[in-house]
Amino acid sequence: MLSSRVINEARDEITRLTENFIDRLARRRSLFVAFRASPDQERLKSYLDTLASRVSDRGLDKNFARDVFGEIATFCGQISDLSGSPVAIEAIDTEIADILVERIRWSVILTRDKWESDKPIRDPDREVVIINKAIEVAATFGIPKSFIMPLMQKIIDNSCYVQGREWTIMAAPYPHRILSGVRPTGPLHLGHYTGAVRDWLKYQEDYDCYYLIADYQALADHSREVESIRRSVLEVALGWLSMGLDPERGSFVIQSYIPEHAELTMLLSMLTTWTELVKNPTVKMELKKLKKLKKPPTVGFITYPMSQVADILLPKADLVPAGKDQAPHINFTREVARTFNHIYSEVFPLPRFKEGEGGTLRGIDREKMGKTANNAIFLADDSETVRRKVRSIITDERRIHGNEPGRPSRNPAFDILDAFDSNKDEVRDMKKRYRKGTISDRAIKDRLIEVLEEFLTPIRERRAFFLERPRMVQDALMSGTERERKIAQETMAQVREAMRITKYGQ
Ligand code: TRP
Repeated sequence: MLSSRVINEARDEITRLTENFIDRLARRRSLFVAFRASPDQERLKSYLDTLASRVSDRGLDKNFARDVFGEIATFCGQISDLSGSPVAIEAIDTEIADILVERIRWSVILTRDKWESDKPIRDPDREVVIINKAIEVAATFGIPKSFIMPLMQKIIDNSCYVQGREWTIMAAPYPHRILSGVRPTGPLHLGHYTGAVRDWLKYQEDYDCYYLIADYQALADHSREVESIRRSVLEVALGWLSMGLDPERGSFVIQSYIPEHAELTMLLSMLTTWTELVKNPTVKMELKKLKKLKKPPTVGFITYPMSQVADILLPKADLVPAGKDQAPHINFTREVARTFNHIYSEVFPLPRFKEGEGGTLRGIDREKMGKTANNAIFLADDSETVRRKVRSIITDERRIHGNEPGRPSRNPAFDILDAFDSNKDEVRDMKKRYRKGTISDRAIKDRLIEVLEEFLTPIRERRAFFLERPRMVQDALMSGTERERKIAQETMAQVREAMRITKYGQ
């Protein structure tokens, strides 16, 4: 029997491979998974066995592998190739296993015959057949034609593929349900934009997005500052609106207005061990910080990851874009979801973590930019404040005069320029000159002030617009919360049913 440590490591390894693979595919801007297929179920079964033992030879848990492959096999029974005959998968490798299990369950699946050459063959007649087939398959998944048409065209125009296989299975991304959140403990700053909102703006185009204002979570270490939380909830909504998040396309959600969050947190805590909860590295780090501040952690604080699990599972999100420090929470969510599905019944999809592409921004003191760290440039800062803050950015301490060589990595002004200056060549050039000692800190900061003014001006204008129309801000919050509430109630009904805490006395 393998130890649970080994199994967990193996799972992490598979997750890592999958992430890499998905990223590789995503970089080519289409999703495409290819492998050989065979209609022979018997051969398939024996192949799955062989695969499972091969996997266990590599130190992975055989039962886990069999589960994964079994799920794929079951799923493949539901799809058919272009001529309508059932397709079973014969060969597959571990790196795509997870994608199939976790991703394709929410995706359109299609098969297509092998590519004859390196390049997809452009054959308009066949493309029409494929698109029509896609529409038909999509309909059985409840996906509308209007969604599938442009997507298929994109895939056909922009294909990537695995060569030399007999069959190709095409997986087009179905609009994922995305959830991400923030604790309302202060106003939003530039780091919120680069680390999260910039990606969210892209997601809101195609996906079903929920943006959570986690006020329960803020209470966990700010229970005496309720007025400030209250102000921050509105401030976050205002910040999101001014950055261009559209409350019609995505949903703004107030956590505490959906009491199902609390109910699910409590129920899930019954099947999660304490050991699992407290091994979370992010919480460990946060507890250290509290200790330094001589603020003893509350029960609610120590257990907040449990409530974050509920945040993600309640709307059945399958993708969580967030900062790197949130990854342990999403991994934990997967563990809890897996346990629930295993003990009771398959209620929850296993969510995936996606790190914000903009990464983390450093503040004017060179530490991570944070709303309570006194080092942030806020979206609501006026021109004068931005100017003053940029001027006070701590730069390379070894460089005393502008004609001495400096290290761009020791100057957070460059981080911010990297994130906001659309003239990449100029930034590169400035870094070169910084290294040589032929540009002053002042010149770099002047450029940064200019870039930030350009970025912040429209945001300030939108902010002023919404400040004058508080009803619109309130409507954004209430309509989004209402949308999530409906899903939350459905999920809770399923959870209660699965846990048999319903219909007593019947
Ligand atoms: N923990 C996140 C933060 O500190 C906020 C958050 C709450 C969150 N619930 C979430 C993030 C769910 C992602 C998903 O900013």
